[in-house]
Amino acid sequence: EFTNSPTLIVMVGLPARGKTYISKKLTRYLNWIGVSTKAFNVGEYRREATRSYNSYEFFSPDNTEAMEIRNGHSWLHDHFNPSNIRDYVHYQINLDCLQVFDATNTTPERRQVILSFAKDNGYKVFFVESICDDPEIIAENIKQVKLTSPDYTDCDKEEALVDFLKRIECYQQTYIPLDDDTDRNLSYIKIFNVGSRYLVNKVQDHIQSRIVYYLMNIHVTPRSIYLCRHGESELNLLGRIGGDPGLSHRGTKFASALGDYMRDQSISDLKVWTSHMKRTIQTAEFLGVQYEQWKALNEIDAGVCEEMTYEEIQEHFPEEFALRDQDKYRYRYPKGESYEDLVHRLEPVIMELERQENVLVICHQAAMRCLLAYFLNKSDDELPYLKCPLHTVLKLTPIAYGCKVESVFLNIEAVNTHRDRPEVSCSFTCNKSPIRELTYMKSLRPCLMTFLLISCSCMKPIETAIVA
Ligand SMILES: *[C@@H]1O[C@H](CO)[C@@H](O)[C@H](O)[C@H]1NC(C)=O
Ligand SMILES: *[C@@H]1O[C@H](CO)[C@@H](O)[C@H](O)[C@H]1NC(C)=O
Repeated sequence: EFTNSPTLIVMVGLPARGKTYISKKLTRYLNWIGVSTKAFNVGEYRREATRSYNSYEFFSPDNTEAMEIRNGHSWLHDHFNPSNIRDYVHYQINLDCLQVFDATNTTPERRQVILSFAKDNGYKVFFVESICDDPEIIAENIKQVKLTSPDYTDCDKEEALVDFLKRIECYQQTYIPLDDDTDRNLSYIKIFNVGSRYLVNKVQDHIQSRIVYYLMNIHVTPRSIYLCRHGESELNLLGRIGGDPGLSHRGTKFASALGDYMRDQSISDLKVWTSHMKRTIQTAEFLGVQYEQWKALNEIDAGVCEEMTYEEIQEHFPEEFALRDQDKYRYRYPKGESYEDLVHRLEPVIMELERQENVLVICHQAAMRCLLAYFLNKSDDELPYLKCPLHTVLKLTPIAYGCKVESVFLNIEAVNTHRDRPEVSCSFTCNKSPIRELTYMKSLRPCLMTFLLISCSCMKPIETAIVA
C-alpha cells in the first residue's frame, strides 16, 4: 500500500440525506485545491441505463434485475479496471485522481463489494455516511432537489412526494448504517443531521484528514457572500499593476456607494473582510462597520513586475510575458506568485467563508478570481480570465447544488483592468492541450524556444520571446 494510492470516496445513506450535495461540494473543493477528483452519481447512471423510471417498485429489494443497475456494478468495473492501464507511467498519472462514488450503499454486502474491488485494485476507501432523522430536513431536501429531478418530470408534485417517500422505505428495509464495532477497521466519517454531530474513524492519510476537516466546516444555513474589489486606485488610473496605492477620486465615490448598497441589503450580522492593502482598507472605512484584515487576501505578488504597466512588462521581460499568456494559472512572476500559489494562500479564507454566514469580502482582481472559481466551479484554465470588474459587487447565494450569482454595478465609472485571453494562433500549442505542453516546455525552455521560432509565425509575445 502506497501513501499516495488513490482514494475512492463512497457516500452512504438513505435517499434525500444530502449525499449528492456533499459529493458535489467536496468534488468542487478538492479540484479547487488541486486534487483532481471526479464524482460518479449512480442515479444518473441508472437513468441512462433504464431510460424511463416507472415507480418505487424499481427500488424494491426483491427486484434483482433492477438491483444490478441500481448498484452500478458494471460501472465500477468499467471505470476502475486497471487492466485498462497500460503502463506504470500512466498509472502514476491516474494516482492523482480521486473518485467520489455517490450512491446509497446502504447494505454491508454492497459495501463489501466496493471494499474488495478497491483492495484488488489498489484503491483506499473512505466512507462518508449521512444520517438524518429530522423529518423537516428530509422534507426540505426532497422539495429542493428531488422533485425537480428527471425521474419526476410530468408528475404531480403530491404524487411524486408520496412515491419518493415509498422509495426511501424500500431502502429502509435493508439499510444498515456503518457499525462502530464490525466496521471498526474501515475509514469513515458519519455526519448526523447535517452537521450537528460527527463521528470520525481511522483516518488513513493527509487527504482524508483534509476531507474530514472540510466536511466539518460546511453548513447549510441560507446566507449570501458578497465579493468585490477595492475602489479604483491611483495605480489603476495609470494602468500599473500591484503596489500599495490609495484610492482615486472615483474609487472613493465607489466606497461610499458600496456603503449605501450594503445598508440597503440590511443584514444585521454582516462580517466585512479586507486585505492588508491600503486600497481595500480605505474602501471598507466608508462602510461604517467593523472590519477584519486578512493578509491572505492580498493581491497576487507580481514580483519584479510590481507597479509596471503590461506594455513595460512586455518590453522588459518579453519571455516572461509570453509564458504567462501560455499558462496563466501556473505561471509564477519572477520573485512573485502564480494563481496556483494564490489558491493555496486563500484556502484558509475559503474554509472560514464556509463556516460563516453573511460576509462581504473586499479584495483584489486575482484574489477575487480565485474565490469566485471556488464558488462557481471553474477550472484552472478559466480561473485567471474570470471577469471581476471594478466597482461591481457579486452577490453569491447558495442554491441546490450550486450558487446563484447577481452582478451589481454601482454606477461609478472606473478603468477596465481586464485582459482577455490572447488569441492562440500557434500550431505548436493548438493541436494538443496547451497546459500539458507548457509544463513540458518550461522544463526544456531554451531549446523549445528555438522550436517555437520555427513553427510559429504568429502572435506578438512569442515573436519577442524568440528574440530573447
Ligand atoms: C480488524 O483488524 C484486525 C487486525 O488486522 C483484525 O484482527 C480484526 O479481526 C479486524 N476486525 C474486524 C471486525 O474486521
Ligand atoms: C464542476 O465542473 C466539472 C468539470 O468542469 C463538472 O464535471 C461538474 O459536473 C461540475 N459540478 C457542478 C456541481 O456543476
